[in-house]
Parts: sequence; structure tokens; C-alpha cells
Amino acid sequence: MVRLAAGRARALGLPTRGTTAPQRLRRVDRWLCGTQARLLRDAELVVDLGFGASAVTTLELAARVRAVNPALAVTGLEIDRARVAEAQPAAAPGVAFAHGGFELDGLRPSVVRAMNVLRQYDEGAVAAAWSAMTACGAHVLDGTCDEVGRRASWVWLGPDGPVSLTFAAHLGTLDRPSSLAERLPKALIHRNVPGERVHGVLAALDAAWDRAAPQQAYGPRQRWIAACADLARDRPVVGGRSRWRLGELTLAWDAVAPSPG
Ligand SMILES: C[S@@+](CC[C@H](N)C(=O)[O-])C[C@H]1O[C@@H](n2cnc3c(N)ncnc32)[C@H](O)[C@@H]1O
Repeated sequence: MVRLAAGRARALGLPTRGTTAPQRLRRVDRWLCGTQARLLRDAELVVDLGFGASAVTTLELAARVRAVNPALAVTGLEIDRARVAEAQPAAAPGVAFAHGGFELDGLRPSVVRAMNVLRQYDEGAVAAAWSAMTACGAHVLDGTCDEVGRRASWVWLGPDGPVSLTFAAHLGTLDRPSSLAERLPKALIHRNVPGERVHGVLAALDAAWDRAAPQQAYGPRQRWIAACADLARDRPVVGGRSRWRLGELTLAWDAVAPSPG
């Protein structure tokens, strides 16, 4: 198991840059609330792990998941104690901030959102972090996005391991689907090389995008939808047109999983 915490630190993990921004995670939250609504309706607690230098994305997450289930509690966990202290004034009924790492401070949430956290770790730390976060039975969303949330991708994990990979983009500013490779989660970002499945998927999506060029006359959304439908003919795409029209594409994990070793 890769060691995540040194010496006396109780929280599992390492403090990293705290960059965040309002609305940065809106695409992530839209997917979570749209595709995992049943899970959220049955849940009591959602954790936002590594909320960063401001409480803002935790508060946004709370507002969104509580639109699905008003009884949900949301806790923002941060490994940097100074950031926890700064966030405390934003605490409200059902929204708390606390110090913790991948061990989740002993909480037992149904869902953990960990956006832009593992990207600053080594690839070798991912498996241990995933195991720690899912040990309590939680589902985990581990992903990466750009500064303003126009390009993102995330792995969705169940208690038994990774389930899917989702890409999400602001289609008006996406030149080619493979541009999303810059925002692959840590588990995959070093695997965008020939011979790896995720590389093959992005190449196939680029080819489908090229074949869909005539749809550009109707706008980038129609072109994306056509490219996703094309890819879905021979790849295990999860969900359909109602998600594609939002600039999303989800694939079963087996389609992108890194090769062993
Ligand atoms: C780049 S910020 C991301 C902020 C926010 N989630 C976002 O996406 O905008 C990453 C934050 O994760 C925190 N962090 C890193 N490892 C952590 C861990 N194991 N547990 C909790 N927080 C962690 C860092 O201290 C940092 O504040």
C-alpha cells in the first residue's frame, strides 16, 4: 500500500494547493444529481473532500444535493487546518467543515466528491486513496477539471471499485474531444499513450468527431451528440442522448481501465 501520510499526521494525505472558484464544479454536480439521484435520496451524508481555499464549492454542492434530498447533511473535509478554520464562518444547519483526509475522519458518507485532490499526488497513491475512501461503503467521485470548470473528467467508484469514467465539456470552446485528455483524473492522465485503453477511446472519439463534422452546421452540441452516438456503436457508453446534450459522455470503467503494471 502506498503511504499517504507521514509520521504523526492522523489525516491520510498531504496538503496541496487550494485553488478553487465559484461554479467550477457545476458540471460535476449536475451529473451527480442527475444520474445518482436515487443514491442521494437514500443518503444521509455527502462529503466534499479537499474543498480548498474557500468554502464556496461545498456550499454549492450542498444547495444542489439538497434540491434532490432536503434532509441531506454535507461536510467539507480538508487536510489543511487553516482552510478548515477559514471555512468555519460558512457553516450552517446541515453544512459543516472539519479536518480530515482520505480516511474521511471516521465519517460514513454515502457519497464523497473529491475534485482536484488526487491530481496533485503521484499515480501510485491513487489505489490506496480509493481504498481508504470507499472502505466505509461510500461511492466516490474522483476527478479533475480546469480552473473555470469548462473541461472535466471524473471516475465514479462504488464500494467495490471504479465503475465509470465521465467526460464533460463546454462544447462551444472544445476544439477536439482529445483536448479533454489534459483533465483526465490522476488514475488515467499518465495513460494517454498508445496501447492504453483511454488513449484508444479518445482517438476513437476524435475520429467520430471528424465524421460528425457535417453536424457542426447545427452547432457543437449536435456534433457532440452525433460523435457520442457513433462511439456508442462499439464502446460501452453509459447513458444516452439526454446526457450527451449536456456535453457529457460516460463510459464503463472496463473501456478505459489502465493496463496492469
Ligand atoms: C486544488 S484544491 C481543490 C478545491 C476544490 N475541491 C475544487 O475542485 O475547486 C485541493 C485541496 O485538496 C486538499 N487536499 C489534498 N489532499 C487531501 C486529502 N487527502 N484530504 C483532504 N483534503 C486534501 C488540499 O489541501 C487542497 O486544499
